[in-house]
Amino acid sequence: MALNTINPTETIAWKKLEMHFNKMQKVSMQELFQLDPTRIDKFNLQWNDFLLDYSKNCIDQETIQLLIELADEMGLKSAIADYFDGAIINQTENRAVLHTALRAKESAVVTVDGINVIPDVYNVKRKIETFTNEVTLGSRTGFTGKPFTDVVNIGIGGSDLGPAMVVEALQFYKNHLNVHFVSNVDGDHVNEIIKKLNPETTLFVIVSKTFTTQETLTNSETIRKWFLSPDFGTTQADVAKHFVAVSTNIDKVTEFGINPDNVFPMWDWVGGRFSLWSAVGLTISLAVGYDSFNDLLKGANEMDEHFKTADFDKNMPVILALLSVWYNNFYGAESEALIPYTQYLQKLAPYLQQGTMESNGKSVGRDGKPVHYQTGTIIWGEPGTNAQHAFFQLMHQGTKLIPTDFIGFVNPLYGDEDHHNKLMSNFFAQTEALLHGKPEAQVQAEFDKQALAAEKAKFLLPFKVFAGNKPTNTILIQKLTPATLGSLIALYEHKIFVQGIIWNIFSFDQWGVELGKQLANSILEEINTEKVQSHDSSTAFLLNHFLRSKKN
Ligand code: F6P
Repeated sequence: MALNTINPTETIAWKKLEMHFNKMQKVSMQELFQLDPTRIDKFNLQWNDFLLDYSKNCIDQETIQLLIELADEMGLKSAIADYFDGAIINQTENRAVLHTALRAKESAVVTVDGINVIPDVYNVKRKIETFTNEVTLGSRTGFTGKPFTDVVNIGIGGSDLGPAMVVEALQFYKNHLNVHFVSNVDGDHVNEIIKKLNPETTLFVIVSKTFTTQETLTNSETIRKWFLSPDFGTTQADVAKHFVAVSTNIDKVTEFGINPDNVFPMWDWVGGRFSLWSAVGLTISLAVGYDSFNDLLKGANEMDEHFKTADFDKNMPVILALLSVWYNNFYGAESEALIPYTQYLQKLAPYLQQGTMESNGKSVGRDGKPVHYQTGTIIWGEPGTNAQHAFFQLMHQGTKLIPTDFIGFVNPLYGDEDHHNKLMSNFFAQTEALLHGKPEAQVQAEFDKQALAAEKAKFLLPFKVFAGNKPTNTILIQKLTPATLGSLIALYEHKIFVQGIIWNIFSFDQWGVELGKQLANSILEEINTEKVQSHDSSTAFLLNHFLRSKKN
């Protein structure tokens, strides 16, 4: 079934939300907390090892009720069913969207074109498991018979960000293999990695759904050329021992010289930015072992079940998505920050930038008409406490409204209580500070205590006052494990899906990235032939300057 096309701003719920917003924008969160001491009981959710406190938002119970009415009017329930059942919801590419099938139980039945895809999914999972064990136990070796010590993932976008983020996040669970990621077409990037490698003991995993991506093919060719350098005594036949690929494009992979046995297939119903659950996660499995990779998938599957079955008012992805719509479309918030209080999740924000912004950065509705309301939010963030010493000033006292998710863990992985208590005291303190701010009376009382001269106090007072009333969600998780990480990623994936349904856009295509790619190809031709064609005056000027300066 195709997704419906309804303009959200024409729903009854939207109109009610507009009226409700007029009331809510005059109320501060500080007042809401004062008025209702049991507020937290109404706005928290607990599920598995996750606790979501969303009480520090500019909402009351009516807000949530109206947002859920909006979700109902937009047909969210049936859209979720279509999503999980393999309906063609990526209509502009005529594809199903089934990353959830990659983590489904083996007994599940998910059909695409009348065929159950689960047996194929499990065949590939078994292939990943066997290959991982052979590499990590050393029975699969390089061209001189030595076991592999290093793995290089060559890919970009969804074929890089997911594996890179998860390998970083699960460092604690890692084995002996050194893992590297090459993504940028910047030759300096690949050369910096190459200089760390020994060709005898390095395995290259080329990940490209299409196997046509310029960056990935260029990097793969550069690496293959280096690998076949006469100094190493390698032959073309050795390529098959050291290069494996993950792709839907088997012909192109074989052309590259990869043994068809070493190709890990994926399917066109897996979108690049949601693909780490497929063989795109091969590098994850190699880095942390297949069992941990499988636990990651199981954690995601548990979140899938929660999302599919929980009522909307108890459904974490739905609540997070609706809050985001509330700020984006009624308060006019442009961006959302994501602050994990663990260094392990330092790549979560860049990863979710692709997930969120490539999915929901759209300005045409599902009816093919331009939308006249805001869609995808800008996502950004860095781990706390580092972020506190970088950009939190703007969050506390700047002019922008930035709804922020704080993600923290009850238990640290190395059990260092002293560090963890310090880290988490910052975690709790920041959301409290963002909520309450620092009122004038408090600042004045501090001045009085310091016996600050009246003149000086008068001058300083406005600079030291914080308005507070800045919305945050707190996601507190028991411990960072492969399973909880899987659930966390799936939580945000489903948030993205719900937002797309509410905004009446197609979240699973990415036509916007194509134009730049096409232009880059024609400009490359001009650079190579040193013949600048007709461009706007700025681009022509830049190209000519580049070509002239290159020769100096
Ligand atoms: O940037 C566009 C994009 O198509 C992403 O969606 C995708 O993750 C990335 O390029 C890489 O594509 P591929 O896996 O086909 O090399």
